[in-house]
Amino acid sequence: MAVRKNQATLTASEKRAFVNALLTLKQQGGYDTFVSTHNSFIMSDTDTSERTGHRSPSFLPWHRRFLLQFEQALQAVDASVTLPYWDWTADRTPDASLWGPDLLGGDGRSSDGQVTTGPFAFATGNWTLTVAPDSRTYLARALGAAGGDLPSKADVDTVLGLTPYDAAPFNSTSDGFRNNVEGWVGPNLHNRVHVWIGGQMSSGMSPNDPVFWLHHCFIDRLWAGWQARHPDQGYLPTDPTQDVVALHQPMKPWNDVTPADLLDHTRYYTYDSAY
Ligand code: CU
Ligand code: CU
Repeated sequence: MAVRKNQATLTASEKRAFVNALLTLKQQGGYDTFVSTHNSFIMSDTDTSERTGHRSPSFLPWHRRFLLQFEQALQAVDASVTLPYWDWTADRTPDASLWGPDLLGGDGRSSDGQVTTGPFAFATGNWTLTVAPDSRTYLARALGAAGGDLPSKADVDTVLGLTPYDAAPFNSTSDGFRNNVEGWVGPNLHNRVHVWIGGQMSSGMSPNDPVFWLHHCFIDRLWAGWQARHPDQGYLPTDPTQDVVALHQPMKPWNDVTPADLLDHTRYYTYDSAY
C-alpha cells in the first residue's frame, strides 16, 4: 500500500525521485493535460449551474480522484513515488525546506515573478508552461505578497470541528465542513493557500505549480481527519440534488466513480500519520 508522507520528512533520494517523476511526466506531455482539465472545471463550476470540482460537495472527492490519477501517472514513471503533503500550519514561511532547490524551488523574483531556483525554474528548460493563464510561459510565484498568512493549526482545528459535511444550497455560500475547508467561508483553508503562493497558483491553471499537488494532498488528509473525528457524519447530499453530485452519482470527467467510492482513502493509499 502506497504511503503518502509529509514533504518535510522526505529523504534526499525520495525528493529526487519525486522531482524526476514530475520532470519526466512533463517531458512526455502527460503533465499539461492535468492543468487543462483542472482549468476547464474551474471555469464551468459556478454557484448557480452544474458544479463538480469546486464550490460544491464533490470538491473533496473530485480532487481526491484527480490526485489519484496524477499519482498513478507519476508511478508509471517511477513506481516508488507517492504524493507528499505540505503541512502549511507547520512549514509556513518562504524559508521552509519545501521551497529549497532540491524540491520545489523558491519564490519568484520581484521584477516579473519568475521562479529562478530549483528544478522548475524556467532557465532549466524543463518547465515551460503550455497551458497558461497569461503570456508568461515560466513558473511564477509571489509568496505571501498578496497579504495575510497561511492558515494556522487553530484554523484547521476550528474547521475540523464543523458539521455537517455540507449544506444547501451546496455552493460557495453554504455552511458546513466542505465550504469552510474549501475556503469560501470561515477561516479559509484551501483558497487562501493558493492566493498566498500567487503566480499560476492563484489561477485555474494552478497545477502548473507542482506545489498544487502537495497542497491538495494535505487538504485530502484533512478530509480523512474530519471523517475520523465525526464517524456519524457522511457525505451530503445523499439524494440527487440539482447541479451537484450526490453520494451515488457518477462524477465527471471520469464517470466511472462516485463520491461513495472515494470516501475511504485507505482503499488506495494511506498517510504516514493521521491529522
Ligand atoms: Cu481545484
Ligand atoms: Cu486548489
